[in-house]
This record gives sequence, C-alpha cells and structure tokens, in this order.
Amino acid sequence: MAARLSLVACCLLGLIAATIAQIGLQCPPAEASIRDTVFQNFLKDPTSPAGLLRLHFHDCFVEGCDASVMLESTPTDGTDVERFADGNDNSVRGFEIIDEAKTRIEAVCPGAVSCADIIAVAARDSSVILGGLFYQVPTGRYDGRVSNRTLANERLASPFENIDQLKRKFANVGLSTQDLVLLSGGHTIGRTKCRFFENRLYNFTGGLPDPRLNAEYAAALRRICTPQGADPSPTVALDRNSEFSFDNAYFRNLVANNGVLNSDHVLVESSETSGLVRFLAQDPNLFKVLFAESMINMGNAAWKTRANGEIRRKCSAVNTRLTTEVGHIAAV
Ligand SMILES: *[C@@H]1O[C@H](CO)[C@@H](O)[C@H](O)[C@H]1NC(C)=O
Ligand SMILES: *[C@@H]1O[C@H](CO)[C@@H](O)[C@H](O)[C@H]1NC(C)=O
Repeated sequence: MAARLSLVACCLLGLIAATIAQIGLQCPPAEASIRDTVFQNFLKDPTSPAGLLRLHFHDCFVEGCDASVMLESTPTDGTDVERFADGNDNSVRGFEIIDEAKTRIEAVCPGAVSCADIIAVAARDSSVILGGLFYQVPTGRYDGRVSNRTLANERLASPFENIDQLKRKFANVGLSTQDLVLLSGGHTIGRTKCRFFENRLYNFTGGLPDPRLNAEYAAALRRICTPQGADPSPTVALDRNSEFSFDNAYFRNLVANNGVLNSDHVLVESSETSGLVRFLAQDPNLFKVLFAESMINMGNAAWKTRANGEIRRKCSAVNTRLTTEVGHIAAV
C-alpha cells in the first residue's frame, strides 16, 4: 500500500519536474562520460561514491543546486567561500572527479552542461554503483556565481543537531520530514570523522558514552576514536558492517542503536520519524524507491536560470565576463 502510494507520488513529481526541467543533458554523450568517470574513480577509491553523494547534498542546501560549493576563493573573497564552511572544510570531496567529467564533456559539447547538472547526475550514478535504484535526473540547472561561507554555515545540517533543527534545515530547501529520513539514508554508504561524534563517546555523565548508543558498539568506537583527538581524525563507517552496500542496513542499525551521529540517532528516537525508520528497516525495496524520489526532490532546490546563472567553463571559477559574453549572460 505504502509502496503504491509512493509510486503515485513519484510520477506526479516527475510530471511537475518535467515542466521546469528537461530529461537528459543537452549533450547526449555526457551521461555516459559522467557514469564512466564516476566508475573509474570508484575503482581507484571505493569511498568516492559516498563523497559525491555528499557533495550534491552540500551543494543543494546552500543557494540551491548550482555548484556554488565548487567555487574556489578569489583574491577578493579570501577564504569566504562555501568550501571553507565548518561542514565542508577538509571534508567535502569529489571536486576533482566532477572536474574530470566536466573536461570530458567540454571536449565534445562546449558550454552545454552545467557543473550543477554534472554533480546531480554523478550523485545518482554513485548510489547506483553500490546498489541503489536508477532514476532519471531532471536537468537544466545553471551554475551560480555566488559562494558564501556564512550562508553555508547557517544552512548545512550538522551531525550534532536535534530533530527540530534538522527539520528546519531541510524545510529551508523545500524538503519534508519524510525527505529528511530518506536522505539521511544516504548514510548507508560512506564514513565519518571521529570529531563529528566523539562527544557521544566521552562527554556524557562521568565521561561515560551516550547511553542511547549501543554499549558494545560504543566500546568498539572508543578504541578507534581516541579522546585526545588524533590528527588527522580517524574515520568510521556510518553504516556499521555495510558501508559499501546501498541498502536499508542503515535503518536496521538505527533501530539497534548503532547510529553513529547524533543526527542519525534522533531519527529513531523521535516519535515523528521512528515509525518510518522502522518501516524502512524492514523493506529494502521501499527504501530504494523512496530514496530516489527524495533525491529528485532535493535536486529541485532553487535552480538558477540563464537570468541569474551561467554554464561555467571550469567548475572552480565563475566565467570571466568578457565584453563579448555580457550579451549571452544577460540574455534570458
Ligand atoms: C552571506 O550570507 C550571510 C548570511 O545569510 C549574509 O548575511 C551576507 O550578506 C552574505 N554575504 C554576501 C556577500 O552576500
Ligand atoms: C562536553 O559537554 C559540555 C556540556 O554539554 C559542553 O559544554 C562541552 O563543550 C563538551 N565538550 C566537548 C569536548 O565536547
């Protein structure tokens, strides 16, 4: 029943998206170039798909899905760009993979595919490589010209937050509580640094671990994450024993109090979300269908258009505004 309802929701959403977007990139070979680039990098580093998925999230939550997260600082903005925000600095990754795909696409279709679209398609391909469901990514995004570290600090969800804070951050980009639960399911792959949850291991009553965390698992995590805080911070899988499989084990782990981050655990703790968490823990296919739907919802966040965006030539920098280009940029 729930599955049938969600299929209806999926197709209605598809129709709405189609009115603002196109299906398929404005360069037929581009989808294959992205898929191949993501796959080649996965062979070199099996953790890279998780990085690309997170990159898409961190892009869409700040200024909408417009590749603002990829802009490098320029002499005028110093370090004041998104990539230096608390949730990104030394942790957001995958830029070089997007750059690689962009270079391949520019060689065949110059100026046709935005970096924002490449990130969205690469995120889809990343989940598919590890067992997620294929879905059509609506495309036609333009790249933004603004990257603001302060805004990123305000908008990115933090691993220390409670359910109300998380709901607010998701609502900022038009996402529901259901989207919050499903998109948190992206933690079915990937790792996190100890510093994002070390407080749960050492800073509760009498220096004991957070009692909401499975005691045996907490003891195992304390052996990996030392209290002094090693540099670089060690990492652990977000989905215990299942970090390379895009499956619903993340939700089963939440139910067993094996959620690593506070922001994971609150999903099974809150009465508003625990029902859905338990439901997803029991139905692997439902998770995959609903995750794809929520990814499309997130990918729809605040698109730039030709009026306020551009197709960047290089993903790390806005296009230089040569006189010959101004007409193109201003044209709607
Ligand atoms: C960056 O975002 C902050 C927080 O929303 C805002 O106050 C500030 O004006 C923005 N800076 C620029 C240069 O737009
Ligand atoms: C430990 O917890 C206290 C109270 O919640 C907090 O003020 C402090 O910053 C925490 N310290 C660390 C190292 O997380």
